[in-house]
Amino acid sequence: MTTDQAGQDQLEAVAMGSRVARTEGPLKVRGAATYAYEAPADDPLFLHLVQSTVAKGSVRSVDAEAALAHEGVVAVLDHTDAPRLESGENAELQVLQTADVAFRGQVVAVVVAESPEAAREGARLVRVDYDVQEHRAELRPGDPDAYAPEQVNPAFPTDTAVGHLDRALEAAAVVVDETYTTPFEHNNPMEPHATTARWAAEGETDGPRLVLDASTQSVHGVVSELAPILGLEPDELRVRSPYVGGGFGSKGLPHAHDVVAALAARAHPGRPVRLALTRQQMFALAGYRTATIQRFRLAAGADGTLLGIEHAVLEQTSALKEFAEQTAVATRHMYAAPNRRTSHRLVALDVAVPSWMRAPGEMPGMAAHEMAMDELAVACGLDPVELRVRNEPEVDPESGQPFGHRKLVECLRTGAERFGWADRDPRPGARLDGDWLVGTGVAAATYPYYRQPANTARIEALGGGRYAVSIGAADIGTGALTVLGQIAADALGVEVGDIDVHLGDSSLPQATVAGGSAGTASWGSAIVGAARAFRDEHGASPAVGDVSTGTPPDNPAMDTHSLHSFGAHFVELGVNVWTGEPRLRRMLGVFSAGRIINPTTARSQLIGGMVMGLGSGLLEESVRDPRFGHVVTQDLATYHVASHADVPAIEAMWLDESDPLTNPMGSRGIGEIGIVGAAAAVANAAWHATGIRVRDLPVTADKLLDLPADLPALEGHPARDA
Ligand code: MOS
Repeated sequence: MTTDQAGQDQLEAVAMGSRVARTEGPLKVRGAATYAYEAPADDPLFLHLVQSTVAKGSVRSVDAEAALAHEGVVAVLDHTDAPRLESGENAELQVLQTADVAFRGQVVAVVVAESPEAAREGARLVRVDYDVQEHRAELRPGDPDAYAPEQVNPAFPTDTAVGHLDRALEAAAVVVDETYTTPFEHNNPMEPHATTARWAAEGETDGPRLVLDASTQSVHGVVSELAPILGLEPDELRVRSPYVGGGFGSKGLPHAHDVVAALAARAHPGRPVRLALTRQQMFALAGYRTATIQRFRLAAGADGTLLGIEHAVLEQTSALKEFAEQTAVATRHMYAAPNRRTSHRLVALDVAVPSWMRAPGEMPGMAAHEMAMDELAVACGLDPVELRVRNEPEVDPESGQPFGHRKLVECLRTGAERFGWADRDPRPGARLDGDWLVGTGVAAATYPYYRQPANTARIEALGGGRYAVSIGAADIGTGALTVLGQIAADALGVEVGDIDVHLGDSSLPQATVAGGSAGTASWGSAIVGAARAFRDEHGASPAVGDVSTGTPPDNPAMDTHSLHSFGAHFVELGVNVWTGEPRLRRMLGVFSAGRIINPTTARSQLIGGMVMGLGSGLLEESVRDPRFGHVVTQDLATYHVASHADVPAIEAMWLDESDPLTNPMGSRGIGEIGIVGAAAAVANAAWHATGIRVRDLPVTADKLLDLPADLPALEGHPARDA
């Protein structure tokens, strides 16, 4: 297929590829960028949520008397008196409508007050009594209630099977059969989830009925989810999110607090209301990554050639709303093996609703797959880079489609060279630096190329060679605002400085979510479509006010090719011989992600993903108390994310390439590939340092204390006999 057949006539990269500084950087540095909680609002009211203290049951009574007597408290809304919602399929959003409690931490009331302090104190004074029912909140292996969902996120088959796996397992010279577990994780963007809402005053007929300034990855997504349940036409709800302080998926869909803000505003027409979740509340109300229990069976010949791969996943969802993480999906196209089986089973528990978190599916799934591959390399006596190269598929092993641009081997070879992999002693525990055992580990990364077609962009001539480019996209800290300007500049054949980009407003043309690493590809393609329409309709010297809209060019390659990004992580880890403490020493990621449109913002994205992957390897873990059903590690003192002290030299690099099959920019996506596989590289390095195979992430000090007696580097070391 030529690029023309793919409909992807490539743009010439002039602005694209250059290091353009973030357009909104100065505003953010000066504190002048208004986030959702700071949206301009006259005489606002403030909200504070009251959360259930039981995991299952129903609210018997809400006693608001003491709260209402507190100075500044205006109202307390609960299921008996909150405005009614239209029914809808998303049970997470049906908040304050019935007495039912489905998980601990669910919203059971909201306090409306003249100040945030009064609202918070009022929430403390609300007394809620419950009829309590038995609950289940523990994910256990072998759970008899596990079920197969109809599909896994976003729309993949639940199970796949190719060939004869059982025969392959019997015939194999080497079998790795191990179970890996990954913990609950919480997204924890810097900016807590927040919403400012204003319902039109009585008699106010102009403009939308409801305006939500929401911290969201998708203004149009909020409209399409909330307008129907609020009984509004789409154009009666306006959603804005000009600046968003991170999301990592947790702001990809609206959550209960957005609905609560809308209901409280409905109850107080004409007065804006402000609601911000506390950090603690985010652990129950903003989604999270499910824990997983993953069994891998790898069947191989003595030379490491894979004959069979099985990946069986058990994970949990919420009884309130199903979310089926696609944990085994990356396995379906990763390595060649004629016999294959993948499956997902869920247990529905009385717990908060899980959702998207950076690379849902690929992150936990590839962590397990790449740990299993490391075990296979050891079992076959093969270098782990060579094992992966040896199992490169010719075509997508399950769909049979050709790969569009599979550069995994280049990523591995480039990384190995730059990292100094050739000098590695394959024996575990062979290297000591002071009191630190030192090991290195490698893991591969992959992430699918998604492009959402439902995008429209508008281009308007402003005069003097300047253009306004508008699309309801979201820049959640990624650099989208800047990058879209670069794409528009090349599509129109002008300078970046001649483009004003407008996004983050549902009154702008329709845009899809800043998710699936698909923002730039999806929105950028629409901008190219609009620029081509503009030049067709108005030529090179337009009049002020000339406007065109456009949509992305079709891309038939989406149906004919297996399109993915790839990468390779290399980690050097030290493990203290006395305490077991693991410390990253250096980390390198090499990525194939199509054209990199802005090296400055791309590097931040990739490094950010790697740091988050490091966090999942060593630190991040939400601990749920099954007796009560909630997460107890609900702050950043107990839920550890990687901080500066945890992050020494991290280097991200990428192959210099442009993908002819994806879109006119030649790009794929960079938001998620950086996190995929990173945790496995960490765990594999920990094994190489210590000889201890940790199959239960994260790799914490307690799991590295019991060092094998025969580590070569510890001969004669006092720690050996301690
Ligand atoms: Mo990302 S988890 O696809 O918002």
